[in-house]
Amino acid sequence: MTMKESTEPELEPLLELARKAAENSYSPYSEFRVGAALRLTNGETVTGTNVENVSYGLTICAERAAVARAISQFGPTIRIAAAAIVNLNGKASPPCGACRQVLAEFIDPGAPVVFPVADGTCTMAFSELLPLGSEMKLK
Ligand code: THU
Repeated sequence: MTMKESTEPELEPLLELARKAAENSYSPYSEFRVGAALRLTNGETVTGTNVENVSYGLTICAERAAVARAISQFGPTIRIAAAAIVNLNGKASPPCGACRQVLAEFIDPGAPVVFPVADGTCTMAFSELLPLGSEMKLK
């Protein structure tokens, strides 16, 4: 597993956008404020934040909110070149399993994903976060 603990400079602007998105978080139940930013291969960036629900189970994570926004704004052919995740709570928050599966539909396997860990950030290639996530021709 390749985990880079220093943030690559090219990911800093994406982290900043994710931080801004986290400020819009609707999270009255967990008070865990998350933001995600995606850099698309078309050069555009989109953000998302978590939107909680009284049912708890219908909560939408920041990453999936960003993916839905990317498709809504730029159409079904988008590809994600990089993703940044931030929370305002100073805690580790790698993307959850559901978000990894949804990202897999649109993200390049080699795309860097940067997320908060206990003592800073960690960057991993998407394919390391979800091995086999986009492989539909297994033998
Ligand atoms: N959450 C995200 O938005 N993304 C993550 O990667 C981790 C979890 C949200 C869901 C919920 O609103 C809150 O954080 C607590 O789990």
